[in-house]
Amino acid sequence: MGYSMAVDGPAGAGKSTIAKLAAKELGLIYIDTGAMYRAIGLHFINNDIVPEDSEAAKIACDGLSINIKYEEGIQQIYLNGENVSARIRMEEVGKMASAVAKLPFVRSKLVDIQRQLAKNENVIMDGRDIGTCVLPDANVKIYLTANSRVRAQRRYNELVEKNIKCDIDEIEASIIARDYEDMHREISPLRQADDAILLDTSDMDIAMVVNSIKNIYEESLK
Ligand code: DC
Repeated sequence: MGYSMAVDGPAGAGKSTIAKLAAKELGLIYIDTGAMYRAIGLHFINNDIVPEDSEAAKIACDGLSINIKYEEGIQQIYLNGENVSARIRMEEVGKMASAVAKLPFVRSKLVDIQRQLAKNENVIMDGRDIGTCVLPDANVKIYLTANSRVRAQRRYNELVEKNIKCDIDEIEASIIARDYEDMHREISPLRQADDAILLDTSDMDIAMVVNSIKNIYEESLK
C-alpha cells in the first residue's frame, strides 16, 4: 500500500481543483472518483436506463468497462473503450451520477477499481466516501467544504467564463439538492470521517487551500 490522502466533501467545494494542484506539488497521483460515477451516469442517460429499474440497471452496470488512464499526467476516463472525460462534465450527468451512486452494485464495482488504483501508487483521491469507505486507513483524511452560496458563486464564475448563461440561485438550489441526495442515501453517504481534518474554504482562495493541504501532508509524514 502506498501513501494515500482522502479528500471528501460536497459538490462544488473545489475538491478536484485543489486535489489536482496538490497532486502536482506533492508528487501524488490524483484520482477523481466522481468521474467514474459520472461515466456510469452518462451511459444510463445515453441508453435511457433509469436507476429505479434495478434489474436493467444491474445488467447495464455489469456489462460496463470503466478504465482510468493518465495522459500527460491528466486522468482520462474510458467508458467501454471510449474517452468520455469531457462529456461527463455536464450538470445533467452530475445529477444522474448522484442517482446511480445510490445503487449497491454500482458502488461495489467502482470501490473495487478505486482500491486497486490506490494499491501500488501514492495517491490523492477525491469523492464522497473515500475516508469513510474506500480508504479507511488513508494516511490523511480531509473534509473539504464551503457554504453553498460560495460554492454556487464559484460554479457560476466558471460557467460565465465559458460564456454559458446561468442563474446563480438555480445553481445553488441544484447544489443543495445534490448534497441532500449524497448525504441521505443508504450506502456510504457523504459525511465527514471521524478522523478527517475539516477545511472550510468559504473564506480561502485556491493558493491558501493548497498551502494548507501541503502543511497537512508534511505533518502526516512526521
Ligand atoms: O464529485 P462529482 O460532482 O464529480 O460527483 C458526482 C456524483 O457522484 C456525486 O454527486 C455523488 C457521486 N459520488 C459518490 O457517490 N461517491 C464518490 N466517491 C464520488 C462521487
